[in-house]
Amino acid sequence: MNKEIAKEIPHDLKFYTPREAMWLKFEAHETPATLRLADNYLNLLRPNDKVLDVGCAFGRVANFLAREKNVEVVGVDINRTEIRHAEKIKTSEKVKFKVMDGTQLECSENSFDAVVMAGVIGGVEVGVRKDLLKEAFRVLKSGGTVAVAEYGINLNDSERREKYKADFEKTGEWGSKIILVGKKKLLIVKHFAGKELRNLLSGAGFISIAIRKHSTESAGIGDGKVEKRPQYTVWGVKP
Ligand SMILES: C[S@@+](CC[C@H](N)C(=O)[O-])C[C@H]1O[C@@H](n2cnc3c(N)ncnc32)[C@H](O)[C@@H]1O
Repeated sequence: MNKEIAKEIPHDLKFYTPREAMWLKFEAHETPATLRLADNYLNLLRPNDKVLDVGCAFGRVANFLAREKNVEVVGVDINRTEIRHAEKIKTSEKVKFKVMDGTQLECSENSFDAVVMAGVIGGVEVGVRKDLLKEAFRVLKSGGTVAVAEYGINLNDSERREKYKADFEKTGEWGSKIILVGKKKLLIVKHFAGKELRNLLSGAGFISIAIRKHSTESAGIGDGKVEKRPQYTVWGVKP
């Protein structure tokens, strides 16, 4: 999704219509990709750490981290409607939300202990992925961590393989698939190989990169189809 589209999609046109009901279903199925399963990443977070949740949408991850890890979270999203909704349904005083572009964070250098991005980089173009990681690096303190959760390429399902093949012709990127949202809007969603995620983090300067693969039943963005698919959580440290 390019930035202009991300800003402009009205909430109700997104894949989670009707909103709350769909999100609940998605959350139950760990969709979009989740950090919840990567306990060895979560164990790195300390009470009262300052965490930035980039592409927070309605605040699923931000609320989860504040509740479970007792950290302070700033959730930012480029989509104003998401932030308005997040503010309405927030469940912790330790969470704040702001409209902000993750590629141009209005945050000072070395100000966060952790930056998380769940299900964000798979929905943006290659250049934007790099810019998001670069900004995460800038705002993190030395020793701080970045964590990215995304779907893995699902080669177990023959229908998926065919879709990857067909969409590769159009997108030029293996693992990306084109999804129709509403009647007209096309979204490109990328599923990653573990190595691609590692390279993304190391390319931005992160070290001590660790990766965890989960196999989860999750609902597909776009069609809502529940299927078993791989997810990755990858994390790294700012030296
Ligand atoms: C699939 S949602 C993931 C939501 C949330 N992280 C979760 O796991 O529930 C992706 C979100 O990333 C946001 N996004 C896309 N590009 C962005 C950017 N450049 N800066 C901030 N947010 C962005 C979108 O508006 C959308 O709300």
